[in-house]
Amino acid sequence: MRGVILAGGRGTRLGDTTRVANKHLLPVYDQPMIYRPIATLRSMGCDDILIVSGGECIGGFAELLGAGFTYRVQAEPNGVAGALACAEGYASGLFPVILGDNYFEAPFEMPSRPTLYTSPTDNPSAFGVFDPVENVIVEKPAHPASDLAVAGLYVYDERVFDVIPTLVPSARGELEITDVNNWYLERGLADVVLVDGLWSDMGTPDSLLRAALHARRTA
Ligand code: TTP
Repeated sequence: MRGVILAGGRGTRLGDTTRVANKHLLPVYDQPMIYRPIATLRSMGCDDILIVSGGECIGGFAELLGAGFTYRVQAEPNGVAGALACAEGYASGLFPVILGDNYFEAPFEMPSRPTLYTSPTDNPSAFGVFDPVENVIVEKPAHPASDLAVAGLYVYDERVFDVIPTLVPSARGELEITDVNNWYLERGLADVVLVDGLWSDMGTPDSLLRAALHARRTA
């Protein structure tokens, strides 16, 4: 099965640390960050993985990971959904997509329908938040309807490549994955499942440290 890792972007929240280096190659305790999403996709049965990143970084991934992976360039960091558009023609049927800076403790089983994953967080305003009553995701809400952040693992089908071209860039100029996810939710085409174990993003100094400490505890 094929899976997709989105590992482009700017990494601005890590400041000078990622001004030159790609975020997804930074160490998380004893391994480069990208090894974590690779392990999550492998737990779902992926034996063929596409890495999407900016042109200036893709060579570093190829040097680290070598054969057994496919590499594609996202011409501009125009958002997570923009990165996913690069997977068109690579992924088919039902396939998982993971953000390269997401850390999941537990393995996952591949579901039989498109699926979104949520995890309770003490800082919901920093994430897309799932409103279970309205069945909608609100991006970085000032008044969150729940504490359920939408984690950076999604299972889509090929319809996703018809949805992305219909998206309008958000106020920050990005094609938002939340708009893709709401398209699935509005039509009752995706399940929403709670993540087992720890989920953390690794895009800020604190969340990167939390993931590294967890990796050390469980090594
Ligand atoms: P973000 O954390 O939203 O963006 P970023 O990595 O550019 O960081 P910052 O907000 O600090 O500037 O991205 C989440 C994940 O999605 C990350 O692992 C990289 C990936 N991504 C892409 O592949 N392409 C993109 O254009 C963007 C914005 C993100």
